[in-house]
Amino acid sequence: MEAVMNNVTIEKAKTSKIKDVDFDNLSFGSIYTDHMLVCDYKNGQWQAPKVVPYQPITLDPSSKIFHYGQSIFEGMKAYKDESGSVWLFRPLENFKRLNKSAKRMAMPELPESYFMDGLTTLLHVDSDWIPQNAGSSLYIRPFMFASGNGFHASPADEYKFIICCAPSGSYFSGKVKVLIEKQYSRAANGGVGFAKTGGNYAGQFYPTRLAAEKGYQQVIWTDDNNHEFIEEAGAMNVFVRINDTLLTAPTNDRILDGITRKSILDIAEDEGIKTEIRKVSVKEVVDAAKNGSLKEMFGAGTAAVVSPISAFGYEGVDYDLPELKDSYASLLKKRITDIQYNRAEDKFGWRH
Ligand code: COI
Repeated sequence: MEAVMNNVTIEKAKTSKIKDVDFDNLSFGSIYTDHMLVCDYKNGQWQAPKVVPYQPITLDPSSKIFHYGQSIFEGMKAYKDESGSVWLFRPLENFKRLNKSAKRMAMPELPESYFMDGLTTLLHVDSDWIPQNAGSSLYIRPFMFASGNGFHASPADEYKFIICCAPSGSYFSGKVKVLIEKQYSRAANGGVGFAKTGGNYAGQFYPTRLAAEKGYQQVIWTDDNNHEFIEEAGAMNVFVRINDTLLTAPTNDRILDGITRKSILDIAEDEGIKTEIRKVSVKEVVDAAKNGSLKEMFGAGTAAVVSPISAFGYEGVDYDLPELKDSYASLLKKRITDIQYNRAEDKFGWRH
């Protein structure tokens, strides 16, 4: 039977998979809820979004996603507080970034109401799937791809926007050892580094595998010119603390405008931590590690939240970071998750 909520049609799954899920032992992004949101773009228009049972998608082998990689995505989370209320964190920022990515990839922009009403309806239908256990949340994956076909190398005429959700635990277990990359680049000026497009991530897999063979879990990406400045950490933005100053690279063509990144900067400022948004050279970080002024490095992103780095490798040498009792990483992680899980006042107005 079909129902309608927020102008979104809902077709309920006949049976639920939820009883098979061990909510006390959730991994990241590997179990999917009973429903998904689907919205098709055809004849130059987005069609009304629908919530349907989670299911495979049938595509023509000549769909342009397979050939020319027109695909974009977002990462978001829904949090359940102690009273069972459900919260999103800055969802409009994800919506705006999705459309920024769409524009760069010559894909159609989605109307705000389709994104927001579709998402809230889906979360309403699958609300039992939003974990309440400490450290867990419902990871939300909105994505769009070219479903229209043709071997002509030009934008497709049909697209699908889908939202799937996965009850999830932590992205990383423990601290991360990283390798500062000197050969491969993640992004280039004028390219697509700022867009959340699949190829940006696929292009990281091979260099990350090479780094993993040497014992590093992630790569610190440096600029494509001379590999002189640090830019991102794996699929996250990166922060460096030298003495008491927190540094991160400015966003540009090559760097993702991370929502966690900008929230961390606001919280740090609110805590009275000195922040600098500027180019951070590899030399500066290596010198700081040598003279003891490098206190912390951490990645920041939706999936991993704040992910402390235990050591970095550069030109064959490993540099360990000190174990701090009062790290900025743990303070900032606590402040942001307290807002996300409705455990603290939200002076910034970020909870939705
Ligand atoms: C996120 O942090 O949500 C991302 O989109 C990164 C992804 C590779 C897990």
